[in-house]
Amino acid sequence: MQSILHSIIGPAGPEIADLNGKVALVTGGALGESPSIHPLGTFTSDRRHIGIGYEISRFLARMGCHVIMANRKQDQGEEAISKIKAECSKEGKEAKIEWTQLDLGSLKLAKEVVTKLRERLDRLDLVSPLPPDTR
Ligand SMILES: NC(=O)c1ccc[n+]([C@@H]2O[C@H](COP(=O)([O-])OP(=O)(O)OC[C@H]3O[C@@H](n4cnc5c(N)ncnc54)[C@H](OP(=O)(O)O)[C@@H]3O)[C@@H](O)[C@H]2O)c1
Repeated sequence: MQSILHSIIGPAGPEIADLNGKVALVTGGALGESPSIHPLGTFTSDRRHIGIGYEISRFLARMGCHVIMANRKQDQGEEAISKIKAECSKEGKEAKIEWTQLDLGSLKLAKEVVTKLRERLDRLDLVSPLPPDTR
């Protein structure tokens, strides 16, 4: 069934079934340490924060998209990726998701990251540039 918002925002949710061949860059997908509020309004039981970037990465990877997750701390990024890969594996899918270091506080570094991605990738379909939480 097509969403009533389809004509305004395009396809969404269950309408998007296959993103194989697409490439996305998502910032802030790592599992943070702060006991912040989950996007759905709940706290995670182990107080590990799962933010919007993680949910976007998870959704895209499960749809077959090649996801490049970018944040500062490698261990937290890799942990999020492992979790997403495990979930995809349970569904019989192989997640195409990788980590790259990015600090959105440095325009110089951000430019370097994007330049390297442009050299390596032949396409980039989606960029989800979530700003860090400054609350
Ligand atoms: N969560 C909510 O309920 C909610 C509601 C409305 C709006 N928002 C807004 O949505 C945005 C995302 O919020 P969030 O709660 O999902 O996550 P968040 O707690 O702001 O950020 C967590 C993620 O951002 C990364 N990050 C933090 N600083 C970074 C930097 N300088 N460069 C690159 N990555 C950085 C963290 O990894 P590293 O520390 O490893 O870099 C982690 O992956 C924020 O602007 C927030 O205000 C959130």
